[in-house]
Amino acid sequence: MQIVTDITHLREIRRSWQTVKEVIAFVPTMGNLHEGHLKLVKEAKKTSTKVVVSIFVNPLQFGPEEDLEAYPRTIQRDTEALEALGVDLLFMPKAEDIYSRGLEQQTFVEVPGLSYMICGASRPGHFRGVATIVCKLFNMVQPNQAFFGEKDFQQLQVIKAMVTDLSMNLSIYGVPTERESSGLAMSSRNHYLTDEQREIAPLLYAQITAMADAIKSGRRDFSVLISNVKSALSEAGFKPDYIEVRASDTLLQPGHEDKDLVILAAAFLGKTRLIDNIQFTL
Ligand code: PAF
Repeated sequence: MQIVTDITHLREIRRSWQTVKEVIAFVPTMGNLHEGHLKLVKEAKKTSTKVVVSIFVNPLQFGPEEDLEAYPRTIQRDTEALEALGVDLLFMPKAEDIYSRGLEQQTFVEVPGLSYMICGASRPGHFRGVATIVCKLFNMVQPNQAFFGEKDFQQLQVIKAMVTDLSMNLSIYGVPTERESSGLAMSSRNHYLTDEQREIAPLLYAQITAMADAIKSGRRDFSVLISNVKSALSEAGFKPDYIEVRASDTLLQPGHEDKDLVILAAAFLGKTRLIDNIQFTL
């Protein structure tokens, strides 16, 4: 596995692959890799001839009160895991090269609408930061395909919209969420949970799964269902942020004609904000 930190070097390698018509798959990450990330890499390997993974903890997508400094950095372990999977290139750029004119001056990419709702309403500027870094990384790596986890469902929709809106020439693949045996969605943020919080955490997915089942069996009183889930989570020790039922393609409130739905959820356990979702069809 080649480890590259320099953008010019990355471009040289990318150019050499171009001449032999390699199919390049790209998995952008912020490191602290878990089984969910490794699944993205495994999926990427199935459809490509070269796999590039990036590790970059992107300051532009963290709010002022969020955990940028505390975000876990586990480069040694991550590198070994990627090497073992046969990744071709690990790109680990430096923040000063990515944002060479400074964060304040940075040109940004923003997908309106989708970026402002749900998670975007709770985390203003977050999806602008995500879209900007993903666009920049796409420009550097120039992949034919890119892989993202469905756990960050709204992020996936934002990126798909950006690719469509900016006529980018690559395919975006969503990969189903990897879960622990308890049902808890794998996330870098799970490391922050205490043993006691880990016991409670699977309730988030259990609650939205039960809610999806209720909707599938005919319930349409979404606001009652949402309020019941929030109460159950609060009683267990969560501080719910949002529980939403949306049309899975647009993330808008579902109309009668919408059959493909998603329940999106975010809740705090202590200081840790967990997110999850479940997609289903009526
Ligand atoms: O999902 C993530 O880890 C990040 O949001 C991403 C896509 C790597 C952009 O920094």
